[in-house]
Amino acid sequence: MGLWLVLVLTLAPAPVLAVGSQSWDHFPRDIYNLNWEKFSGFWYIVAIATDAQGFLPARDKRKLGACVLKVHKMGQLKVAIVFSTSHGCQSQVVILKKDKRKALFRNSLKGVKGLHVLSTDYSFGLVLLRLGRTHRNHRSLLLLSRQNTSSFASVREFLDTCHKLQLSAQATILPKDASCAHTILP
Ligand SMILES: *[C@@H]1O[C@H](CO)[C@@H](O)[C@H](O)[C@H]1NC(C)=O
Repeated sequence: MGLWLVLVLTLAPAPVLAVGSQSWDHFPRDIYNLNWEKFSGFWYIVAIATDAQGFLPARDKRKLGACVLKVHKMGQLKVAIVFSTSHGCQSQVVILKKDKRKALFRNSLKGVKGLHVLSTDYSFGLVLLRLGRTHRNHRSLLLLSRQNTSSFASVREFLDTCHKLQLSAQATILPKDASCAHTILP
């Protein structure tokens, strides 16, 4: 089973979604002038907060995730992502298309409603994934790092953003086991 499918199938119940869509109106803002070439390449996923229930495995089975971003011609972004889920180490590749007006990529047919970069200095990144089909949505906030570690400042920004998105209860710093992440090394 593909990773996006796992995420889409583990949808949060309706009351949680209603709160999520309210906060979405006010926050977050995408980075307008992001350099996607500079942002591309290999990233570790060092922390996650998701309202997709049952996505994360048991505490002792959690590992670092990873993604590889590659900019294509004509506003396309190829995303390979791997994550240690409750269904084991899952990977998937998806091609996203740039929105004409907003600073985000999406592929609605594959259940990816938006990949938003909320913050980055190109050594870490804060990415919000909005996934789902039709009006059933959920959100995952990812802390990306070029290294298998993360700075105190980036973790703090991750936790602050979790708070604003009302995802604090689901925030998880992942153990530094790279065995799943390295399965998609470029
Ligand atoms: C983290 O990365 C460094 C080098 O970049 C490596 O030496 C170290 O073993 C890695 N740690 C883990 C737990 O994978």
